[in-house]
Amino acid sequence: MIINKVKGLRGEINVASDKSISHRGVIIGAISKGTTLVENFLMGEDCLSTISCFEKMGVEIIIKGNSVTIEGNGLHGLKASNEVLYTGNSGTTTRLLCGLLAPQNFNSTIDGDASIRKRPMNRVIKPLSEMGAHIEGKNAGYAPIHIKGSKLNGIEYTMPVASAQLKSSIILAGLYAFGQTKIKEPISSRNHTEIMLNGFGGNIRSDDNAVIVNPVEELYGNRISVPGDISSAAFFLVGGLIVPNSEIVIKNVGLNKTRTGIIDVLKSMGGSITIENINNEIEPSADIIVKSSELKGIEVSGDLIPRLIDEIPIIAVAAAFAKGTTVIKNAEELKVKESNRIEAMENELKKANVDIIGTDDGFIINGGKNVLGANFETYNDHRIAMSMTILALAADGESKIQNPDCIKISYPEFFDTLRRISL
Ligand code: S3P
Repeated sequence: MIINKVKGLRGEINVASDKSISHRGVIIGAISKGTTLVENFLMGEDCLSTISCFEKMGVEIIIKGNSVTIEGNGLHGLKASNEVLYTGNSGTTTRLLCGLLAPQNFNSTIDGDASIRKRPMNRVIKPLSEMGAHIEGKNAGYAPIHIKGSKLNGIEYTMPVASAQLKSSIILAGLYAFGQTKIKEPISSRNHTEIMLNGFGGNIRSDDNAVIVNPVEELYGNRISVPGDISSAAFFLVGGLIVPNSEIVIKNVGLNKTRTGIIDVLKSMGGSITIENINNEIEPSADIIVKSSELKGIEVSGDLIPRLIDEIPIIAVAAAFAKGTTVIKNAEELKVKESNRIEAMENELKKANVDIIGTDDGFIINGGKNVLGANFETYNDHRIAMSMTILALAADGESKIQNPDCIKISYPEFFDTLRRISL
């Protein structure tokens, strides 16, 4: 894909639907009794992987336009798959399935693509084994993962990392365990699993930094309308800020507080971002208006990191165009995402003449130098590909984005929307 500088980004857009909520709609719908309707479902490859896994376990799922109807089998109605459950590129599908399938009365094998096979699964294998699961990964902790379904007991577990995938995996296992499960998090991560389960008749309580799972007899199907994904909106937020003469209205973006770190950071950098038409549901949403702004460097660290973990590559792009130094710390988790995002962004931003040093847990970026177009690798990572595309819109000279197709993982309409608002 060849990208050149644009003269502005202007218009009203909807972004891709929330990936985390779409996954959970299928997973929780499948184990609920009755019908679940997920409207505005994300038809990205990751969420389609989740659908395909549940179809293999005997769940009837009908896709019509952007809606997905799941005829749930109830809490104890999943069936053994006679094939490997292939999760593609999706960490969320892989880790949540581990927790859900460990307590079933059948065996399963879960496997994914080359990236999934490199991502650490020990973080879920360890607590699930403590609950009594028979779960094994290759080379002590990687996919393919073999699960021998067994009865589990509730545990008290302190998570070593803030991760919603890990937390959700333990929550799903806890639904089937004997007794209560208590999960402590070092820092709160996204809470979509807890919210949705409670909306389907679950009994999950959240204290300051602990989640308590009380098993229930049954969950019941429900109707969900998925808001826009703030992690996808982030690319247009930064595009709108760094491309001069821009003004974008992004409609109906999910603003769950565990996800809005990107807005706090871009505002602290001096970005003009306003929020309108707030819809105060349990999963709140609103329209966001962004206008071109002069940005300044800041520090991003600590409790903020889990609230913007997927947005760090695009924050690095914003930092490249900001005056002064941006320091990103405590984000070592970036090394085990779809690619090693510290290494990937350091390599690619260097090609664009950006003064960046990758550290063990983030970056130091001295922004404000002339940013140049170049031939960018994407490491088969959708968020690296979208980040470098946005940079290219404001960089001098032509850019090439290698393997732009990986964007379909989370945002199939990305280039169409971008073309429509580019001047
Ligand atoms: C997700 C949790 C986050 C995030 C991922 C989606 C989820 O991962 O990076 O894109 O839906 O639970 P971690 O749980 O590994 O932090």
